[in-house]
Amino acid sequence: MKVGIDKMGFYVPKFYLDMEDLAHARGVEVDKYKIGIGQHQTALLSPLEDIVTMAIEAAYDIIQDDKDCIDTILLATESAVDFSKSAGNYVHKMLGLGTHVRILEVKQACYAATGALQLACDYVRIQPDKKVLVLSSDVAWYGFDTPGEATQGAGAIALLVSVNPRLAEVHKGTFVTEDLADFYRPTYSEIPIVDGKLSIRCYTSMLQQVDPGIDYVYTCFHLPFASMADKANKALQIPLSKEKVDITKRFGMMIGNIYNGSLFLSLLSVLVYAKEELSNQTIGMYSYGSGAIGEFFSVTIQDGFESVVNRRQLIEKIEHRQAVSFSSYEELMTLFASKERLENFVPTMKYLSDYNRFVIAKIDRGNRIYQAL
Ligand code: HMG
Repeated sequence: MKVGIDKMGFYVPKFYLDMEDLAHARGVEVDKYKIGIGQHQTALLSPLEDIVTMAIEAAYDIIQDDKDCIDTILLATESAVDFSKSAGNYVHKMLGLGTHVRILEVKQACYAATGALQLACDYVRIQPDKKVLVLSSDVAWYGFDTPGEATQGAGAIALLVSVNPRLAEVHKGTFVTEDLADFYRPTYSEIPIVDGKLSIRCYTSMLQQVDPGIDYVYTCFHLPFASMADKANKALQIPLSKEKVDITKRFGMMIGNIYNGSLFLSLLSVLVYAKEELSNQTIGMYSYGSGAIGEFFSVTIQDGFESVVNRRQLIEKIEHRQAVSFSSYEELMTLFASKERLENFVPTMKYLSDYNRFVIAKIDRGNRIYQAL
């Protein structure tokens, strides 16, 4: 029985900072960010958004015909807004799903969404009449004037997992785990503690331990920054051409690191920009989460996948965003950081636009109230 991704949804915030503006403000050569790190833009969350609104936006369109058979939500994030209540609880309500749904928040740095996807595939294998909604929603925030500042981003991915999937059959992976201190965010800290160079070595070393050495038409990578694709590709036993690697990172270079969703953003780039026919082709997928776990698995794109992937709409989502100035970036990220420290919060409407379908209305003694517009 085939199991895998029936539909995939995606959300990126409306605002972004051009890396040229960040480079000028930090006194860094623009080429370091645009060529060395490979980032051209970085997505920025507005004060009306959080990981919950992004997850709702990513999932909303893809679940409309399947509300009755979704009985599980697995929300992968490392940007949790609560230590006890799952962000999926809020998402579940706003999506209008029934009460007989299990909800879990899953965490293992950027790897959790892949782990959740594999568990969801096993679940529908034994309960073929059910579908699982796997969500990833994250804000990568490293703090002002840090080396990681050039590798930030925000966004969400939704994967509807079922038997007989229309988009991609998911195959079992090979994984490796080790206790590493390359990147972690202890509960006392708003920003991660990162050893950037070590993290790149850990990422690459785990890739080499799980790489099956198969000549896939494409291999998609977890992309903490776009040029990580080039480093990862060099580490493969059978590397892709430069032209193909560039395709795997096209969305990533305009959005930045969305942590759990980054690998799936790379897959979306391939689905949108690949020049070759992808039906029945198998694509390699390398997932890495600091701390650390690396998994290599593959997906086989299904015949007729175009019926569930709207290329034009995906490109428009990226193209219709709005650049903000460096001072607005400072304002937005200061608001983001302070929001999570407040007991009560009402967002400024200054950043409201018709782009948002769901917003955070207020935080009331830590409880979050959302609103559909
Ligand atoms: P850095 O140390 O400031 O940068 O930060 P650098 O000095 O290494 O330069 C970067 C690249 O730009 C180098 O190329 C330079 O040569 C080049 P490379 O040697 O890497 O090929 N460069 C230039 N190129 C053209 N023109 C120029 C120029 N100047 C320099 N003028 C670093 C880079 C990525 C370390 C930093 O941004 C960072 O710490 N980021 C966060 C950590 C990270 O992304 N790690 C990646 C692997 S870990 C992972 O993927 C997990 C993660 O997603 C978290 C999770 O799992 O939850 C992060």
